[in-house]
Formats: sequence, structure tokens, C-alpha cells
Amino acid sequence: MCGIIGIVGTSSVQDRLIESLKRLEYRGYDSAGIAGFTGNGVERRRAAGKLKNLEAVLAGDPLEATVGIGHTRWATHGPPTEGNAHPHRAGRVTLVHNGIIENFGELKAELQAAGHIFETDTDTEVVAHLLDVELTNKSPAEAFKATLDRVRGAFALVVMIAGEPDLLMGTRRGPPLIVGYGQGEMFLGSDALAVGPFTNRIAYLEDGDFVIIDHKSARVFNEAGKPVTRAVQTVAQSATLMEKGNYRHFMEKEIHDQPEGCQRTIAAYVDTLTGRTAIPGGIEFAKLDRIQIVGCGTAYYAGLLGKYLIERLAGLPVDVEVASEFRYREPALNAGSLVIAMSQSGETADTLAALRYCQAKGMRSAAVVNAVGSTMAREVDVVWPIHCGVEIGVASTKAFTAQVSVLTALAVAAARARGRIDATEEQRLVQVMLEAPRLMAEAALTEDAIRKLAPELARARDVLYLGRGPMFPLALEGALKLKEISYIHAEGYAAGELKHGPIALIDEATPTIVIAPSDPLMEKTLANMSEVAARGGPIILITDAEGAKHASPDMKVIVGPACDPFIAPLVYSPPIQLLAYYVAVHKGADVDQPRNLAKSVTVE
Ligand code: F6R
Repeated sequence: MCGIIGIVGTSSVQDRLIESLKRLEYRGYDSAGIAGFTGNGVERRRAAGKLKNLEAVLAGDPLEATVGIGHTRWATHGPPTEGNAHPHRAGRVTLVHNGIIENFGELKAELQAAGHIFETDTDTEVVAHLLDVELTNKSPAEAFKATLDRVRGAFALVVMIAGEPDLLMGTRRGPPLIVGYGQGEMFLGSDALAVGPFTNRIAYLEDGDFVIIDHKSARVFNEAGKPVTRAVQTVAQSATLMEKGNYRHFMEKEIHDQPEGCQRTIAAYVDTLTGRTAIPGGIEFAKLDRIQIVGCGTAYYAGLLGKYLIERLAGLPVDVEVASEFRYREPALNAGSLVIAMSQSGETADTLAALRYCQAKGMRSAAVVNAVGSTMAREVDVVWPIHCGVEIGVASTKAFTAQVSVLTALAVAAARARGRIDATEEQRLVQVMLEAPRLMAEAALTEDAIRKLAPELARARDVLYLGRGPMFPLALEGALKLKEISYIHAEGYAAGELKHGPIALIDEATPTIVIAPSDPLMEKTLANMSEVAARGGPIILITDAEGAKHASPDMKVIVGPACDPFIAPLVYSPPIQLLAYYVAVHKGADVDQPRNLAKSVTVE
């Protein structure tokens, strides 16, 4: 939810902290702050709102320091004011925090009873007070450990202590924290991206670890306080790159990156020599009772698409559930099932909890993730990475299609393993999959037509999306994209469900976007479209040349390429994403950082 960074440097850190925070802004962007050891002890600068406000503060009042910490916030406790912006402090302690301190209420009451005065509405501040108390009679490491023993919740922290200008301490319980190894400099950060400009030598902390860094080294301890070693890895450049080239927004770039991302992803799950699927991890699909997919938001919709693909092709039952509901309703599970966690970040708290819930029931586990160093990736039996590169835009696009690519390959592999298709059909489907990236690029050529539709759509207060079969999850995803970046209310419906209630919403001011490329269900969807048209509802039809023949002159039609229905969810994703994108751009919305959102949601 929030992004944190710490640098024990040999040269000025102000600009480097800001550079890191820019890279972490995808995690939250409602206020920001930094602190550093200066000639006057520990000083901090903070500002409400976007990072540029903090930069303006620093322009007038620079922070001269070579060791410091920084934070970009997504508010959980207390509004996003300057007063609630991190770093927070008490006595000798100044710290930044990502996550939630669950027992902060009782700790705060206890500290207040002992005379502590609190300056903020945050849960974070109790940790600063507690640690300051513990420092009275303990070393920094002992005091940190004693403090951590008292707090409950899911959090990552980076701490500086007045009088200890050469060290920073950090910990993670739940949310990630990495250690970066530089040349005579050391770093702590929420992810590899945060320290990307400074180093690509990274150690991923394990859950419960705490760490003390100075200029040259990191001492890591596990939750029990025992010294441990965490391997230093050289991460791929793609994990630390963050460029949007000639594009206006990361989202626009990431939409156009999709053919390449899907091509790389599909290539990782098929053997191009034999033309067969090649799924790493040794899962025996023939022996599985069922698959349970858990995910949130866009990742959940990718999972829903997986259900359509896998059940139809492989006859293997697939349950898909929103992770935040899953574990609280005591689902009936059995150990013969496989759980697949879908998550771009691999850190989403709800998905992680649902995954662990299944693991505790004895199920084998897999994760389809983008962040291969993430908690989910490290906790599952099998990692199925997507290979689309770091996704920066808060609205997920290329991760979605890469996730769908993995699930498409799994559907073919499972169908083959379960004897539902023969080797020839497997090879045909692999060939079809390999064509998807080219067709996605072709579908993105609808961009100009879509841009022209945006002004009209931007005037709508409500928008409906309709689809049938695999186009239904795509309708849900299209509606989510429009909601989150353009703030227009939108709902996705299964086309056949419309007449059971939602059709009452149709009027001249409510556009309906119908996603219906040619497939065996197209005619049925088009019949539902006629029901909308008969009630005066404006229609935008997204289809191929064949489908376009069914449009009436008053409909707006976006014509994408003809494709095998098996890959239509991939091919028709770019137009749906572009539609939301251009509506948001037309409305002047902050596309890459929509209000109230954060990319990585590491709280429940
Ligand atoms: C929507 C979006 C979110 C995420 C969701 C899960 O555009 O990005 O709905 O898909 O928060 O995030 P991950 O995939 O990181 O678990």
C-alpha cells in the first residue's frame, strides 16, 4: 500500500530518495516524506498530495544528508494530511511504515496512560513511541526486537535512530522488504524497482526477518532473533527498469507492450520445436480433482477467464473466487485440488491469505505472478511467472493478458493430460496461441477509432458492458478499467442476464458496450444487443468484420481482427483497455495514478 526506502549512502541522498519514491508511487501517492541525519540531528520534510508537492518543499528547504529514509503513502489510518505523512517520530526514533499495526489502539492507550503525547491519527506512530521506550535500556537491535514482539499486524518498517547515524533497521511481516547491496552503500526498499537506479544486487527478506544495515553490510535475523543469511541475487534489468518512452502514460505504453509480453509468456509455456505445451512444475493435471483460483480485481477476472477456458477444454472443474471473501466463508476444499493464486504483485494480502488457507488444508499450490521475488512466489510449490515486465500503471493491463496467456496454456496442457484432446489438436491450439500476439497488435490498431469515440462516452454517467462466454469476464474487466481510471460508473453483465433486471437501466443516456467477436455465441449476444437497441440505448459494438455486418447504422462499431475464439479474450483485451484509457484521457484524469487506489494492496 505504501512505498518505503532507506539509504545508508556516501553522498547526498535527498534526490535519490525522491527518485526511489517516484518508482514507488504506484504503491500509494496521497502524501510523501523523507528524513535524514543532518548537522542538526534527524530532520524530516513532508507534504500532502503527490510527490511533486514534496519536491516543492525540498526546493525551498533542502535536506542535506547522506543517510535517510522516505515514504509514499496510501492512507489507511487518518486522512492524507501533511501531519499524517510519514516519516513519523517519537524521541530518538524516526520511521516509515507500510501496512497495518492491528493492535495500535490498545498500545496507544497504554502509551497515552504513561504520558506519551501523539501527534498523528496513524497506527504507525505507536511503533515509534514503543521503540523509543525500549531504547532507554537496550541496544538498537534489542530494542527493535522487543518492539516487534509487541506489535501485531502485517507491516514493513524502516527505522532510523538519533545518535546512530550510520545504521538503518528494517523488518517485514507480510509486506515485502528487500536489501540492496551497493558500492560502499546499502539500501532497504519495498521492492527491487525502488533501488533500481542504485543497484541490482538484492536480497529478499523472509517473512518475520529484521535487518540492520550500515554502509557495507546487512545483518539479518529471523523472527526468533537468530542470525540468518539471505542470498544476494542479481536481478534482471527488466525488474529495475521504469521508462515510458514516447508514451504519455505508463498505461498507454503497457497496453501496447502486450503483444510482446504475451509472446514472451506464451513462449515460456510451450515448446516451439514440438509445438506442444510445456508447463513447468510437474503438476499432474490428470490426477487433479479440481482447481481453485483465488485473486482480486483484474487478477480475479483473469482467473474467471481461466475457468471458462480450462473447464471447456479440459473438463477439469475450476472454482474461482474473490480472495477477500474466500477464507472467511469456510469453503469446502479437498487436498486433491490445486490452488492457483493469481497476482501481478504476488503480495496482495487477501490473495496471500487465501493461498495460505488452501495450503493449510493440504492443497498443492501454484502462483501466477509477475514479481518472481514476491511472497507468493516464494511460498508456493510451483511458480508460473508471467513475462510481461514490470507493470507501473495502477490499472492492470499487460499483467492481465499475460495471466490469461498462462491460463490458456494450462487449459491446453490439462486437456491433453486428461485425454480430452489428442496431440494434433494440442499442436493446433499451440499454433493458435502463438498467433495471439500478432493479432493483439492488430486489434490495437483500433486505437484511432476508439479515440474518436471517447468524448461521447466520457459524457456518460453509467456504462454497461455485455459479453457471453469468455467475453463475459472481459466485460467485467472492461467495466473495472473504465471505473477505476475515468470514475464513470460501469458494470459488466453476462449478455443473457441483462433481461433479468439490468435492462431496466437502459435509456438514451446509458451506453452499452457489447463485446462480441465471431464465435458460436455471437448471434445470441447480438440478440441481446438488439434488446438494448429496441429500448433506445446507444451501443458500441466491439467485434470483427463478420460481427460488424449485424450492426445497424446508428451503432458505433470497433472492428478488430478475426481470430480463433480460443484466443479471443487475449485479442480483444487491447481495444477494451484503450477505450477506458481514452475516456480517462479525455476527462483529464490522472491515468497512471487514479484517485484512492494503490497498485499493490498489502492490507486486508
Ligand atoms: C485493476 C487492478 C487491481 C489488481 C488487484 C490485484 O486494474 O490492478 O484490481 O488487479 O488489486 O492485484 P495483484 O494482481 O497484484 O494481486
